[in-house]
Amino acid sequence: MSIPVVTVGAGQAELVGSLERLHGPVTVVRRCSELAELVAACQTGLARAAVVTGGTQEVTATLVDRLGTVGVALVGLTDDDAERARLAGLGVLAASESVPPQELARLIGEAVDAAAALSADRPSSSFGLAGARPTVEAEAEPPEDGPEPGELGTVIAVWGPIGSPGRTTIAVNCAAELAADGRSVVLVDADTYGPSVAGVLGLLDDSAGLAQACRLADQGLLERGPLERVASPVVTGAGVLRVLTGLTRADRWPELRAAAFGSVLERCRELAEFVVVDTGFCLEADEELSFDTMAPRRNGTTLRALELADRVLAVGAADSIGMPRLVRALAELEQAVPGVAPTVVFNRLRASAVGRSPDRALREAWERFGPGIPIGAMVPHEAEAADAALLAGQVLLEAAPESAMRHSIAEIVCAPRQRKRRFAVPGAKARVPVPR
Ligand SMILES: Nc1ncnc2c1ncn2[C@@H]1O[C@H](COP(=O)(O)OP(=O)(O)OP(=O)(O)O)[C@@H](O)[C@H]1O
Ligand SMILES: [Mg+2]
Repeated sequence: MSIPVVTVGAGQAELVGSLERLHGPVTVVRRCSELAELVAACQTGLARAAVVTGGTQEVTATLVDRLGTVGVALVGLTDDDAERARLAGLGVLAASESVPPQELARLIGEAVDAAAALSADRPSSSFGLAGARPTVEAEAEPPEDGPEPGELGTVIAVWGPIGSPGRTTIAVNCAAELAADGRSVVLVDADTYGPSVAGVLGLLDDSAGLAQACRLADQGLLERGPLERVASPVVTGAGVLRVLTGLTRADRWPELRAAAFGSVLERCRELAEFVVVDTGFCLEADEELSFDTMAPRRNGTTLRALELADRVLAVGAADSIGMPRLVRALAELEQAVPGVAPTVVFNRLRASAVGRSPDRALREAWERFGPGIPIGAMVPHEAEAADAALLAGQVLLEAAPESAMRHSIAEIVCAPRQRKRRFAVPGAKARVPVPR
């Protein structure tokens, strides 16, 4: 079977000549003057493989993902050992620029087979984003306080429809309860519309840790050390958790590329037993219709988190606006990520909004109008506890340890209720109350 190939980079003329002289299955169908031209050529379905020779520094996880989406395998040629290792980390087959043509043809065939196997595994739900990146090989030595050897941490995505149902409150406090239970936790703020984890935790953070982690992942440089540096530990009265803070301005969302974000979550799984992700509300994937398929997608991080999650908490507001919104949003979720089995969490449950015996009233309404998914948890509305925590930049375990709100959130992650404790960790992030 013939393998049409496109090439780019210095030295490609020589490369093309030597490949053509083999008269084998590999034929060069286009020589491109720059990477953008190569991507465009691949998107027309012209080629099954692309060879980048020299100048491989521009090869990123996003590029690999986009080419993988259109079924094109990538091979990188560079004489720099470190660069070859970086490419390998991105899942790109790499060789030296002086690789013999026979060997290069073999490599191209191997890359094409691997790309074909990968696209067969690609979940149909993905709008061309999921499962594309081969995961980076796990480190031999598992993190001291991380998952057991050979195991990966559990990803919990906290999602819910528009209308501020309490995604961040649930995410932050679930993470805090798990940390209080002595589990290693990374809390990730992946909301590309209204990031607020840093504010809720009282961090005066202007570093956008998640954007930094995504940048490193895109370059194939997100090793354990750099991840630990950008996901710095935050000490709460409940324990210690690592936090990848969100964007400092929502208009920076193009910095969170879905492919890189997926790699960040996979890396976090290697670091901690639990990875709790605060997502955005929106699941729309209609950017897919856009001509420029290399364009960043604002909802890509939310969709990728939901695709990778082991557990999805679907948070809805327990009132007459929140319930129908959650019903519609769950239908959209099933479309966007088929097969997902969310835990429904109703938040801000109160008699003044749903009537006397609010939990019974809510259950009855859900049985009548809901999609048949049982309610997993009901968190009461407790303005005093929530406001006390916000005011102090604390988690509920610190600000309102005896509140029913805190206890019902703790039950969602099955963490036993912890007493307030003091922790001191060298190098931990200082928590400075945000001016309010
Ligand atoms: N159970 C509760 N009782 C009282 N107040 C609550 C409760 N849960 C959340 N809140 C308050 O509701 C507001 C919105 O909560 P939160 O920021 O967690 O929502 P969100 O879904 O993350 O919103 P956004 O759309 O901004 O991301 C906050 O002021 C929070 O303190
Ligand atoms: Mg939020």
